[in-house]
Amino acid sequence: MSSSQPFVASSPISAHRSKFTWKQLHQLSQSSPNCPLRTVSHCDLDAFYAQCEGVRLGIAPDQPLAVQQWQSLIAVNYPARPFGVGRHITAAEAKKLCPELICQHVATWKEGEVRWAYHEDAFKQIATHKVSLDPYRTESKKIFAVIKEQLPPSLQRVEKAGIDEFFVDLSAQVHSILLERFPELAAGPASSDITDLLPPLPTTALDWSADHLVDLDENETEEDNPDWDDVAMLIGSEIMRGVRAAVFEKLKYTCSAGIAKNKMLAKLGSGYKKPNQQTVVRNRAVQHFLNTFKFTKIRNLGGKLGDEVVAMFNTDTVKDLLEVPLEQLKKLGDDTGIWLHRLVRGDEHSEVNPRTQIKSMGSNKAFRPAINNFEQGVRWLRIFAADIFSRCVEEGVLENIRKPKTVTVHHRQGNQSKSKGCPIPQAKTLSEELLFDLAKNLLAQVAAEGKAWPCINLGLNVSGFEDGVTGNMGIDGFLVRGEAKAARLASSSGIQDASPESEPSVKKRRTTLGIQRFFAPREDSKDSEQGSKASEPESIDHSPEDAIHSAPELPPHVLPPSAQGAAHLFQPTIDSYFCRRCNKHMPKEDEIEHNDWHFASDLSNEFREEARTRPSTPAQRPAPKKALAKGRRPTGSSASGSKNNDKGQKKLAFGKS
Ligand code: CTP
Ligand code: CA
Ligand code: CA
Repeated sequence: MSSSQPFVASSPISAHRSKFTWKQLHQLSQSSPNCPLRTVSHCDLDAFYAQCEGVRLGIAPDQPLAVQQWQSLIAVNYPARPFGVGRHITAAEAKKLCPELICQHVATWKEGEVRWAYHEDAFKQIATHKVSLDPYRTESKKIFAVIKEQLPPSLQRVEKAGIDEFFVDLSAQVHSILLERFPELAAGPASSDITDLLPPLPTTALDWSADHLVDLDENETEEDNPDWDDVAMLIGSEIMRGVRAAVFEKLKYTCSAGIAKNKMLAKLGSGYKKPNQQTVVRNRAVQHFLNTFKFTKIRNLGGKLGDEVVAMFNTDTVKDLLEVPLEQLKKLGDDTGIWLHRLVRGDEHSEVNPRTQIKSMGSNKAFRPAINNFEQGVRWLRIFAADIFSRCVEEGVLENIRKPKTVTVHHRQGNQSKSKGCPIPQAKTLSEELLFDLAKNLLAQVAAEGKAWPCINLGLNVSGFEDGVTGNMGIDGFLVRGEAKAARLASSSGIQDASPESEPSVKKRRTTLGIQRFFAPREDSKDSEQGSKASEPESIDHSPEDAIHSAPELPPHVLPPSAQGAAHLFQPTIDSYFCRRCNKHMPKEDEIEHNDWHFASDLSNEFREEARTRPSTPAQRPAPKKALAKGRRPTGSSASGSKNNDKGQKKLAFGKS
């Protein structure tokens, strides 16, 4: 890894004035996403799972190594790649191509055991074992901690964007270094007018020797005067070199980084040169850089939205899409059209979101062969509950630091997906047993609806993680009360169901998914055996009969469109969340709260509806249409669980080294 280059300070002075203002320099200190001097980095671990296994087993870094899951390879280190070994081939094929290849199987949970382990014969045990990605999550946390340690606490903004990747908004730190190094910037504007231009920059200030620079746009030349944005990028690049060196020194992992003015470009940059390198996409080189890509390589355009754009405009290149007028792009919908029009021009302003708390966790298993009865399903639920519970403990559930609100069972039979959810009683301390019991009840509901077997995929999810209960009677208080009641009902009369509504609800959701499906979070796991997502749309639809009378008050930006204006004004970004019920984009960080609002308001509406239609005496009430088990009465809970996860970036075939 190259060491950081000394920064050559002031003079001689270039004769040209800067195009940036003092105001914009100030915006840099605020990490404003609209600041033209903004400096963002994306950092991605090289062949992550393979490096984890290599380090754990003390294998030499130049030894070809792959990580195996059953017969497939899920990670291949760089020394193995020249042999043609990749994720697309089986372990047996890989061994033929590279006889010295070490294939290490991932850790697994064995049915009946209380902890995952590295089992010698795991590759043969697909029917009775389930993959554990815990070892990689643990390493991921260590890496995250080292990265944060490396950055000044008051100026850092780091977002964990996946199991092996991070965004860092370097703006505030870059600002502080600029002021340290350039007295002319520290001195401030001569007049009090912050719209004055910044002083010219020292021409010797730029030394890019250790970085990959993307070639400049056609009309720009190297002799053109560099400006403060170039210096900001250079400082950002120095910082990232230090961060990467620390990760290597402390944990022995290499990673690659991209440095650019926004998340989208930084992410393309980190994949541009691998392994163990970093790429700077200067502002003057943005279009040149983007033009060489297929837009389907851009985050959020790799999935169905990308396919739709390809089909509509008959091209998959950024270059061609630049020719398509905005009005045409709006055929994808106004918001999406505008978003895409900007995106292919490198214009993207999503924030680096330092909220790195997990909001949901899942554990699931694809069955080949399928499982055929309730008892088999229950045995897997026990493992899922143990898996999720151990991860919840790490999240501080026992200390009541963070707690999930809902538990959902996902089930797949043929091409039919079903999800059943219920609240997790908040009054009790979460336990493995409690999770398991709730899960078992939910599976019983699925089974009672019939056509549950053979089942090819079963999963358990907990979501809606919230900080421990406080005195705040906002939505938390509301839900806690609602859930307590629901939980009481569940334990006294069984968790309810609304079988009659289940199918229509599934179908309706499928057809109204709209653009939301394009923005589904990416999973890191190949067959999503397990995954923790930074966030996930909550797809439950509970209706405990004893609901609360009125929906809680929320800040305007999380209210549905009919009740407020803020979300209307929100411009979609690479990270925005699309609510399919309101048909609106909103900041990603509002997703959970917004869905909570729907949840609460649905409860309220259902209560009102039920109160309106409820016959006055119990004798007049209609009999439940379908009883689940003795004494259980139906209400509602079902949703389609068919998620579209972008399987993640493939390696970018991008020439020039
Ligand atoms: N992963 C997976 N299945 C995929 C994509 C990723 O299981 N389809 C896992 C891999 O095992 C990988 C980790 O998620 O180690 C991170 O994925 P990614 O960054 O895409 O690939 P790397 O293996 O880290 O390789 P690279 O050096 O190209 O980033
Ligand atoms: Ca990686
Ligand atoms: Ca990655």
